[in-house]
Amino acid sequence: MNKTIIVSNRLPLQISLHNNNLVLTPSVGGLATGMKSVHEGGKSLWIGWSGLKEEDLDPKLTEKVNAAIAKENCAAVSLTGKDLNNFYYGFSNNTLWPMFHYFMEYTTFEGKHWESYKEVNRKFAETVLEHTNDGDTIWVHDYQLLLLPELIKRERPNVSVGFFLHIPFPSYEVFRALPWREELLNGMLGADLLGFHTYDYERHFLSSVRRILRLDTHFNEISYQGRTLRVDSFPMGIDYNKFRNAAIAHHEQGPEYKSDLKKRLDAHLQSAPDAKMILSIDRLDYTKGIPNRLKAFEYFLDKYPQFREKVRFILLAVPSRSNVPQYQLLKKETDELVGRINGKFSTVNWTPIWYFYRSMPFENLIDLYTSCGVALITPIRDGMNLVAKEYIATRVDKDGVLVLSEMAGAAKEMNEALLINPNNFEQIADTLKRALEMTEEEQAERNAFMQRRLERYSVEKWAKEFMKALHATKQQHHVIV
Ligand code: UDP
Ligand code: G6P
Repeated sequence: MNKTIIVSNRLPLQISLHNNNLVLTPSVGGLATGMKSVHEGGKSLWIGWSGLKEEDLDPKLTEKVNAAIAKENCAAVSLTGKDLNNFYYGFSNNTLWPMFHYFMEYTTFEGKHWESYKEVNRKFAETVLEHTNDGDTIWVHDYQLLLLPELIKRERPNVSVGFFLHIPFPSYEVFRALPWREELLNGMLGADLLGFHTYDYERHFLSSVRRILRLDTHFNEISYQGRTLRVDSFPMGIDYNKFRNAAIAHHEQGPEYKSDLKKRLDAHLQSAPDAKMILSIDRLDYTKGIPNRLKAFEYFLDKYPQFREKVRFILLAVPSRSNVPQYQLLKKETDELVGRINGKFSTVNWTPIWYFYRSMPFENLIDLYTSCGVALITPIRDGMNLVAKEYIATRVDKDGVLVLSEMAGAAKEMNEALLINPNNFEQIADTLKRALEMTEEEQAERNAFMQRRLERYSVEKWAKEFMKALHATKQQHHVIV
């Protein structure tokens, strides 16, 4: 039977070793949480890295790992410590990630990292080809695997290959600075369909293809090596019903079932009639604008002192890529800012910021989403930002205000949110005030629009539309040939 193979650097579950026993934890990040819903609902195989280094495994452990992964319909690509240093931390997260998010000052160009990127993409190709039969559909995900579509297509020209980029595709003016720009574009063009979150990213990609590879594009089609491939935007959605139903269940939950976190959140809300909480959730990543957000919150408390002792900011920062120096610096900066702001404003009864540096289980995320009247999401650049969508989905009573950076892909579909420029503290402070004072009618009106859209364009629908377009591209290709 034909199957779909999902390929991404990280599997939806990560394996680590504790006293030679396997510990399985769910992966964080939009790709993993979004695609997990798609994977659970269908008959797909997911190929990716297990989270363990080759050196840490003996044949017996490898067998155990493979069995644990196979149970989840996954298969592992084996990576060494050197691969992780050069391919993952190196080229993926020191070159492509900062450059595609317009952080040129963080971008490094190292030949050694590029060689490893090619080598690891080949390793992925080998594993994928081992599992592929004619008639299968392969869906490759994200910036760590830009060369993979071509490596698969070269060996299996008749297999449908789709590619989706979960981060922004930068403007040609930025992308052109990459020493390996032609190779990366050629790698991507192995796909029959290339998907991006927004029309802008799609447009930037097409412009790079035209100007760097000198290929003709006709609207969103590219003729390349006798094939016609299509480029389109597919804004990724969330599992709307999962979040909504979890929020409904939370509202109905008796006090005896409440988590300790929920009890603490409730205690703050009951501390004053106009007590409110502002929430932000992100991986601790410099693209997310966390220091700016903290400084804007400080400015807000200075400018509008009437909110002191009433408003609490809940900052959940999930550890991410902590081997990369910029992420270590960001951690230090965040710790210091939280310490300074709490030191400046705290009273005997009130600490302005509650800071959590860890990942939280789903139930606690729902506690946070449902308890906080304002979500403050201020990335400097973000491909999409699913947290913004999850927040709105959990607001079953239609209250709650989303303050969202216009630099997030999600802003394109969430016009009813209060959109801000993440570098404008004045605007953020004033918008926070507006959010905290917004009438319930206005909140409900705005949220109703966004909820309808999120429900209609769920992650399931997103995946279906992508697959439909992929199969249509393939059929069209057969007709042309
Ligand atoms: N998330 C999670 N555990 C946490 C915090 C967040 O699984 O402790 C999830 C969150 O629900 C969301 C994803 O991580 O689905 C973050 O995706 P987003 O698109 O906002 O950002 P990304 O991390 O992909 O840049
Ligand atoms: C973003 C990227 C994903 C990545 C995730 C977590 O969502 O688009 O490809 O998996 O961040 O980052 P990590 O480096 O831990 O896989």
